[in-house]
Amino acid sequence: MLNIIICGAPGCGKGTQSDLIVKKYSLTHLSTGDLLRKEIAMKSDLGIIADSYISKGELVPDAMIIDILLKYVENQHDDSNGIILDGFPRTVAQAEALEVMLKQLDKEISVLVDLKVTEDELIDRLLIRGKTSGRSDDNMETIKKRLDVYHKLTEPVNDFYKSRNSYTPIDGMGTIDEIFGRISEVIDSKR
Ligand code: C5P
Ligand code: MG
Repeated sequence: MLNIIICGAPGCGKGTQSDLIVKKYSLTHLSTGDLLRKEIAMKSDLGIIADSYISKGELVPDAMIIDILLKYVENQHDDSNGIILDGFPRTVAQAEALEVMLKQLDKEISVLVDLKVTEDELIDRLLIRGKTSGRSDDNMETIKKRLDVYHKLTEPVNDFYKSRNSYTPIDGMGTIDEIFGRISEVIDSKR
């Protein structure tokens, strides 16, 4: 089994690289952001609450996200080689909950890939994406807030995985193919 976490600041390329990794290694892609956006599109109760956080660039409360993840994992019956978590865990509390959950399933994280991209490049990418994404959070004001939240709440997750020896920083600058090549090398070394 290959259980991967892909993380990094907003705009670092988590979603883009996840799509490529999923195809090459036959993994299941779990993007908590995508799940939330689906709920918002359906205008479900959960979606309405989630939207109030996402459009401000804030994080949806841990309990809600963990609940979504549990439901997803319980309903997931497939024969993939493992899972790639994209955009989760966003906080240390989420990382702790994930660890408990995986232990119960007798599974563990094989590697955490942290895509490193300069702040200027992140902002450029998100503003370009905002022209076509239709996302309520791809605008300058919300981008600044998201970067702030990332540094305060999400970056500490890296230390959690450093202490478990699964943390791997990867240069996230360059072409999509270059970055995918770097990630593949790391994944291949864990198989
Ligand atoms: O992962 P992604 O960048 O798609 O997430 C978009 C937004 O969804 C985040 O800025 C945040 O508001 C919300 N989110 C969250 N908790 C997560 C994942 C996403 O609150 N674990
Ligand atoms: Mg994404």
